Amino acid sequence: MARILDGVAIATAIKQEVAREVQALAAQGVRPGLAAVLVGSVAASEIYVRSKVQTCTELGIYSDLITPPASVTTEEMLDLVARLNARDEIDGILIQLPLPPQVDTKALLDAVSPAKDVDGFHPVNAGRLQAGRPALAPCTPAGVIEILKRSDIPIAGQHAVIVGRSDIVGKPAAMLLLHQNATVTICHSKTRDLGAITRQADILVAAIGRPGFITPEMVKPGATLIDVGINRLTTREEFDRFFAGDAKREAAFAKRGSTIVGDIHPKAFEVAGAYTPVPGGVGPLTIAMLMANTVRAAKMRRGI
Ligand code: GUN
Repeated sequence: MARILDGVAIATAIKQEVAREVQALAAQGVRPGLAAVLVGSVAASEIYVRSKVQTCTELGIYSDLITPPASVTTEEMLDLVARLNARDEIDGILIQLPLPPQVDTKALLDAVSPAKDVDGFHPVNAGRLQAGRPALAPCTPAGVIEILKRSDIPIAGQHAVIVGRSDIVGKPAAMLLLHQNATVTICHSKTRDLGAITRQADILVAAIGRPGFITPEMVKPGATLIDVGINRLTTREEFDRFFAGDAKREAAFAKRGSTIVGDIHPKAFEVAGAYTPVPGGVGPLTIAMLMANTVRAAKMRRGI
């Protein structure tokens, strides 16, 4: 039986550590602060941002939720970011993506002060990460490393194969794994004979955004599978493709009318040595690492 890597438990441990750091900073008169910017009313974004703000409150981090309308312009957003860059009680600026089409996302991410870039999306932080300098790293890939380390899964010398080359997950995950001395291969939609490469993986990271894309025959028996995907299934046909015969999922699907599946087919987990479930794997780490980055930014900005 494959070992389940419990993201909820690991995230809880990290949040407890962050809360202790926040208390220690309070003794020095410092309170880390996060500004969360939520544009318009995208349902998924609202859920994520609410959860981020609530976690700040739980850990003693100051938070400010800013909710511009969906009609906001790039200029108005740049003006907002400039004001957040200048506010001393704000250590981290999070602009929830995606933004409406009229907003120039790149221009906006470039405008965030690298010192307050707790998402690690600014090119300066991407460059620092690549150069092996201290940097605020993107939360989801940083969470992947925490899961592996805290589960005592060896990284050095292992072949880590990443499927997906996004700036938010795939590329930074490759850099972080490389810094831990993994041998790293990045695959993507144009990769030829993908299965031949994924079958070499000791650690397989799936971040493609396609439901159940990694199938059992693409996995080396005993490998560690890290599933970054979050795909919502709403039709019976989709549900049956992944979860036919799974009574627990069936009950949840009947109740909610949907369920989520990662980028790894559930049958592939049976081949693995260890894996992150969806939900309850990588997902909870993203918020925990955002909190850790906010405290780190607060300390770095004050030279602590
Ligand atoms: N949208 C989906 N994931 C993320 C994330 O990690 N950060 C931000 N800012 N937006 C997102």
